[in-house]
Amino acid sequence: MREGHFILLGATGDLALRKIFPALYKAYKDQLLTPSILATGRSRLSQAEFLHLLDTKTKPHLKNLDLTLWESFTQHIEYVAMDLTQAQDFKALTKRPLHPNTIIYFSIAPEFFAIACEHLAQVGLNAPEVKIVLEKPLGVNLHSARAIHQSIAQHYQESQIYRIDHYLGKQSVQNLLHWRASNALLQTLLHKDHVDHVQMSVCETLGVESRGGFYDPMGALRDMLQNHMLQMLTLLTMPLPSNLDASSIRQAKRALLQSLKPLDHQALLAQVVRAQYSAHGDFVGYRQEPHVHPNSQTETFVALKLEVARSEWAGVPFYLRTGKRMGASFVQVVVSFKGGSPLIFTIQPNPAISLNLAPITLQTALESGMDAYQRLILDVFDSNQSAFNHQDELEAAWVWLDPILQAWQANETPLYFYPAGSFGPKEAFDLLERDGHAWRQM
Ligand code: BG6
Repeated sequence: MREGHFILLGATGDLALRKIFPALYKAYKDQLLTPSILATGRSRLSQAEFLHLLDTKTKPHLKNLDLTLWESFTQHIEYVAMDLTQAQDFKALTKRPLHPNTIIYFSIAPEFFAIACEHLAQVGLNAPEVKIVLEKPLGVNLHSARAIHQSIAQHYQESQIYRIDHYLGKQSVQNLLHWRASNALLQTLLHKDHVDHVQMSVCETLGVESRGGFYDPMGALRDMLQNHMLQMLTLLTMPLPSNLDASSIRQAKRALLQSLKPLDHQALLAQVVRAQYSAHGDFVGYRQEPHVHPNSQTETFVALKLEVARSEWAGVPFYLRTGKRMGASFVQVVVSFKGGSPLIFTIQPNPAISLNLAPITLQTALESGMDAYQRLILDVFDSNQSAFNHQDELEAAWVWLDPILQAWQANETPLYFYPAGSFGPKEAFDLLERDGHAWRQM
């Protein structure tokens, strides 16, 4: 049973109420964790009012709720109202002696990271026993990602920083690496000698919902591809380290991201498709969504072709696509071989791996395991950084992506449109058809 002191900044926010408290509760229920939780937020709520907020906003997200356990869980929570910009408010966080396992979870907008770090350091909450957990977006390009990091690095060592990418908390995503590590056949097959091409789809039927204010300055490339998709790519393609410890895994991922072949101007025009959903059927178009600019140029869909410039992958095209308001919700990695049927990793909704290479047939449905946030939070309690991004990985991803963003900002490539509920614009299909391939649908 793990113990520790968990300080949550932004405890009245959506993420905290929908994901973080449910994850803490489940870990408590599974007897994996007894934390003392200090929940902080700007709202001047009493303890009773905060517990009421949890009742109305968190409880509905809990499956198989055990009311007695829930009551006992909430007794571990104390709410303190504080303003992150006011240094004196941080004294409230030091009422108790520093616990040797202290976690500070930043469920707040990144513009408050620097001031929060400074004020935390002023009250000693950057001591070596303190770990901080950071939520994306950690920048919107290389420059801003570095600036955010620099302000944090003044007070915290890399070993204290846990950057969340919740896809890395999904068992089905971690399996990409673990199967490779434990399966000699896969190790042989995942090589340019055998692989014709690879497809990766992260499709959502959801639209932008109420998140227009967050999403409109962001877009699909930054929201999904920069992090979740490139991370899945690394787990599938990076050279397997001889030791699967956090440092070796993170180094291997960084090296892989640094080996992505840069997209020159020609490639940017030919290999990257951006698009936005338009009204169709019962769905409004993206530009009609709340808090979205009526003439927004933000992409809700991106498809691109990339190459991993390593000898074992040379010449193998990787096609990535992600979009909102698509025809179905699924996350899938499909490895097509030069002969035979493909190897399919279904990440969600029903995690599975399937391979049908005569005479071998492998078809395995998989347990989804723990919820991603639960797993990642437990990893932080255990000081295990292997499923968290190193700053170098983020920077490598931005180095590769920045030219795309710049070309888009300069309007060098068109913004296409696709009907809400479809699978993206024609140009995304053409991208594969030109090479003699087609997107695999669920
Ligand atoms: C988040 C994005 O990181 O991932 C959301 O900000 C997206 O836009 C979500 O909907 C998808 O996560 P999942 O786990 O539902 O596939």
